[in-house]
Amino acid sequence: MNMKIVVEKDYQAMSKTAAAILADAIRANPKIVLGLATGSTPVGLYGELKKQYRQGQLDFSNVRTFNLDEYIGLPKEDPNSYGYFMNEELFKDINIPLENTHIPDGQAEDLEEYCRAYDKSISQEGGIDIQILGIGENGHIAFNEPDESLALETNIVELTEDTIKANSRFFNSMDQVPKTAISMGIGTILKARKIILLASGEKKAPIIGQLLKTRRINTMLPASFLLLHPDVTLVVDQAAYGEMN
Ligand code: PGA
Repeated sequence: MNMKIVVEKDYQAMSKTAAAILADAIRANPKIVLGLATGSTPVGLYGELKKQYRQGQLDFSNVRTFNLDEYIGLPKEDPNSYGYFMNEELFKDINIPLENTHIPDGQAEDLEEYCRAYDKSISQEGGIDIQILGIGENGHIAFNEPDESLALETNIVELTEDTIKANSRFFNSMDQVPKTAISMGIGTILKARKIILLASGEKKAPIIGQLLKTRRINTMLPASFLLLHPDVTLVVDQAAYGEMN
């Protein structure tokens, strides 16, 4: 398989390795376009990038970013919105101009139109150089959930019960988790020149095991589409890699 695999001993080492790849790329191309992800997994990576910025080793003033997804209906000020997450975990502590950052607007008036415009603006910025991805326990990437078919482009998606349940840990109750989101499509993701897939912890071991064993593209395992991409690096910790792999 094409995928490069880097196994690190723990979450911190995984985060450092991913940060080193990104930091080198930013230094090589200060106007890089990054695709960013939310969730628990990339928090350590963002922490490392902030540290390098504080130490004067990184300059984000010309970096541009596009996030994978956002809940529909949550205002940016809502602590559970991905816009809020990105500000808290990264943007407010680095020198990236906020106008260079793009997060789908889950409150856009015409959501369909907005989704088309989002893909267009990625193309207009020259496309994504490096896309950071997490993986759901059900094999989703961004909010592309297992289904009979998957969207190619940025789209409105319905979250599965599994995902609503997994994400409810951040909300007061399951009822408060939005049921729909805007998500980059599989095609949008595969257009990135380079992809870094991160996974940490034993909860991810079954899905990582499944991904590494599969020899078939399967819409019920959305991450399997990454096997079509020529430059994917999986950075995992030992717990997510599992004993069987
Ligand atoms: P997590 O989410 O990083 O919070 O595990 C990953 C995902 O659902 O894509």
